[in-house]
Amino acid sequence: MTAKPIRVALLGCGTVGTEIVRLLTDQADELTARVGAPLELAGIAVRRPNKHRQVPAELLTTDAAGLVARDDVDVVVEVIGGIEPTRGWLLAALNAGKSVVTANKALLAEHAGELFEAADRTGADLYFEAAVAGAIPLVRPLRESLAGDRITRVMGIVNGTTNFILSAMDETGAGYAETLDEASRLGYAEADPTADVDGFDAASKAAILASLAFHTRVTAGDVHREGISQVTSADIAAARVLGRTIKLLAICERVRGTDPDTGAATEAVAVRVHPAMIPRTHPLAGVNGAFNAVFVEAEAAGQLMFYGQGAGGAPTASAVLGDLVAVARNRVVGGRGPRESAYADLAVRPIAQASTRYHISLDVADRAGVLAAVAAEFAQHEVSIAAVRQEGRATDASLVIVTHSAPDAALRSTVDKLAGLQFVHEVVSVMRVEGEDS
Ligand code: NDP
Ligand code: HSE
Repeated sequence: MTAKPIRVALLGCGTVGTEIVRLLTDQADELTARVGAPLELAGIAVRRPNKHRQVPAELLTTDAAGLVARDDVDVVVEVIGGIEPTRGWLLAALNAGKSVVTANKALLAEHAGELFEAADRTGADLYFEAAVAGAIPLVRPLRESLAGDRITRVMGIVNGTTNFILSAMDETGAGYAETLDEASRLGYAEADPTADVDGFDAASKAAILASLAFHTRVTAGDVHREGISQVTSADIAAARVLGRTIKLLAICERVRGTDPDTGAATEAVAVRVHPAMIPRTHPLAGVNGAFNAVFVEAEAAGQLMFYGQGAGGAPTASAVLGDLVAVARNRVVGGRGPRESAYADLAVRPIAQASTRYHISLDVADRAGVLAAVAAEFAQHEVSIAAVRQEGRATDASLVIVTHSAPDAALRSTVDKLAGLQFVHEVVSVMRVEGEDS
């Protein structure tokens, strides 16, 4: 015998919401069997009801707050996006003891603490698998499967739009703007695609991943962020010559150190999002289009890799439906899913202290002593050079320098000094190199 229906308020019926409605309808019987009760749509909040002819008109409303407040709603599924007014609606739902499933990484990366506190007050569930890496199960493994381990690093590609753009630039030499338009048309990009290309979306996801991995509340503002808008076809060609490709990476690390005053061991968290050159032989180099892939390193488990479709309506709806089944089951049988775990409360380390390898491309005058003077600047800032490549062009030369691992602050000072040298015509690009020995 099945229990009484679980009534679902759906907020948003765009790229992801449309697929949620389709899956709820097409798989109604199977979902009922899995939950132990039917899942029924109580209503769907949208902005422009006339646009949504594919869903029953009587379900549509423009009053999201009113829908959330209805007595016959058990679970709120939010796929609108943005911080306000969504935050208020989800807080209202949780405060009323309604479970929430959301794909909204921007909101979670700013306000997870407040939302979890509301959930704890009423015993409601807050699930968000779709907020990171589309269809890929990543939140649940970090929240549950690896809860007995110590995670040391999470690194990967977590934005489908930028990976789609960089893959196309690398594979076909396609232009940046036309590829971004295509990503929007395919439903990968955010409503405002600068969230993707400027790295905000990946930074939100990195904050969520770091919070889960290191049991510390990390917000988007804690994440060092660089997007891909400065990456040029010339950078991609230069990477190719050196057997590398360029990816937008999110890197969350547990960093160990020593307190300079007491000598005691310290631990902190470092979280960054930036484009990086990686060897073409690296597993992440083969992750193309809107696919995402994330490596998780844990002390006992070792290295794990998660791979799959990171954006798009149906893949994201799959993750939302997985959460919906979980919270609905909890309501049928009683009990709750995991709560926020932020007990470790580690400090967040500034980017200036992060060490990576760098690829620096300069346009310089081609004459005696230039290379030696450039090398001297690196030496002065204690940045060790791993490789140098020079190509003459009439009276100028293109100079590419790859460093060993160096602190961000030292590299920035070196580059500032180089930019001021009379024989350095242009600092063409400065890019981190990941996935190689230091
Ligand atoms: P869309 O822009 O396609 O859809 C947004 C929906 O929200 C639309 O149906 C819109 O209504 C509705 N809406 C907007 N404002 C309001 C409002 N004030 N009141 C009621 N309804 C409103 O977005 P997506 O489906 O692409 O994304 C939704 C969420 O899922 C975002 O948080 C996004 O970050 C996240 N996400 C998206 C992924 C993707 O690949 N697209 C992947 C993973 C997560 P109307 O249609 O009438 O305009
Ligand atoms: N705009 C996001 C992306 C959607 O391109 O990855 C998935 O979160």
